[in-house]
Amino acid sequence: MNILVLGSGGREHAIAWKIAQSPKCNQLFIAPGNAGTETIGKNILIKPTDFDAIKILCIANNIQLVIVGPEDPLVNGIVDFFQHDAKLKNISIIGPDKLSAQLEGSKQFAKEFMKKYEIPTAGYFSATQENLQEANTFLDKQNPPFVLKADGLAAGKGVLIIEDRNEAKTSLKEMLAGKFGDASKTVVIEQFLDGIELSVFALTDGKSYLKLPEAKDYKRIGEKDTGLNTGGMGSVSPVPFADDKFMSKIENKIIKPTIRGIENEGMNYKGFVFFGLIKVQDEPYVIEYNVRMGDPETESVIPRIKSDLTDLLIATANQSLDTLSIEIDKRTAATVMLVSGGYPEAYEKGKPISGLENTENSLIFHAGTKSENQQILTAGGRVIAVTSLADNIKKALTLSYQAAETIGFDKKYYRKDIGFDL
Ligand code: AMP
Ligand code: GLY
Repeated sequence: MNILVLGSGGREHAIAWKIAQSPKCNQLFIAPGNAGTETIGKNILIKPTDFDAIKILCIANNIQLVIVGPEDPLVNGIVDFFQHDAKLKNISIIGPDKLSAQLEGSKQFAKEFMKKYEIPTAGYFSATQENLQEANTFLDKQNPPFVLKADGLAAGKGVLIIEDRNEAKTSLKEMLAGKFGDASKTVVIEQFLDGIELSVFALTDGKSYLKLPEAKDYKRIGEKDTGLNTGGMGSVSPVPFADDKFMSKIENKIIKPTIRGIENEGMNYKGFVFFGLIKVQDEPYVIEYNVRMGDPETESVIPRIKSDLTDLLIATANQSLDTLSIEIDKRTAATVMLVSGGYPEAYEKGKPISGLENTENSLIFHAGTKSENQQILTAGGRVIAVTSLADNIKKALTLSYQAAETIGFDKKYYRKDIGFDL
């Protein structure tokens, strides 16, 4: 079949790389893709949120399966767009519809869902201009630090963690007044949870699910998790502290009730579920849902899946996931992200990248690159994800760091301590 992957990052390169290995994949398209995806499929310069252009692309190329990488098109209703269009409705599209995508697109929606299905998560209060006084009373009852979350999508910047109570009250006022535009017209105030985070993934057809390998990602720019938040600086899978006992708690207390909730609510959700979790004294809590795979978790998760991903995705779309199982590579995958100096603040683009051909012991997933006149150039903050598989974390990281050294571009930066807390 002809398959389209939407997106342009390391996550989409990893997904496309895996799909390209499937005997079921005839032609592979990536929109817009990057210099890495260009080597395994055909890049088409279309934005994942340009639904009309995607429609033309799908019809012209007889696309039968679409995988949506990032959240924006899902939250904007790409699945509904396909289902309501006579020419697109028979195409299988992997992702939730607009309503179900609110699990990621609205923190309040996610919190209400978790409350209804008794899924462990931090206590919360939904604040608006109208109930500001009650909101402040809620803040008065909390111990610091205070967690304020813009309800809607805010490009990963909508969560503030504040030590001082009065400062939290001021920030709450600013958020409600539009600090993050419409996204913060409602602010979810949460109880602070102190623990270690991990990312757990499932593929669901809306009724049953398959658990994918879990991962840990490293979000801060600086070593020992310091400095600004980024899109993600590295990842490791599996996660050593997520032993069988803890994983079965996650499955019973979080994954199963979530899938039951999706089915019970009649949600049209055929896609990846990303559980952002935190472990507090041996108990898992949900920090957030995402309705897509994580980046850079995907770059560590996908290489550990031995089964044919295309088969799994077809079964997801056909609601026959219960007939399949998933085979996982026992080895550890470790991903190190090479970024442009200055990221996540201002950085330069267009720098030539060298050494990619001398990295045969690792997998190279392009995150922000483009090719121009036979040269591969940097084209984003996150540039290249290097992933290696080995018998343990240390060996996998050693391989990834060797490749990270070999690859060169002006002002290259990467964290040297991925996995430091495992
Ligand atoms: P979110 O966008 O909801 O994932 O939040 C971003 C980050 O803020 C998370 O990855 C956590 O590190 C942190 N965070 C969010 N909610 C909480 C909470 N209730 N307690 C402690 N940390 C939190
Ligand atoms: N790595 C976290 C995310 O993709 O949101």
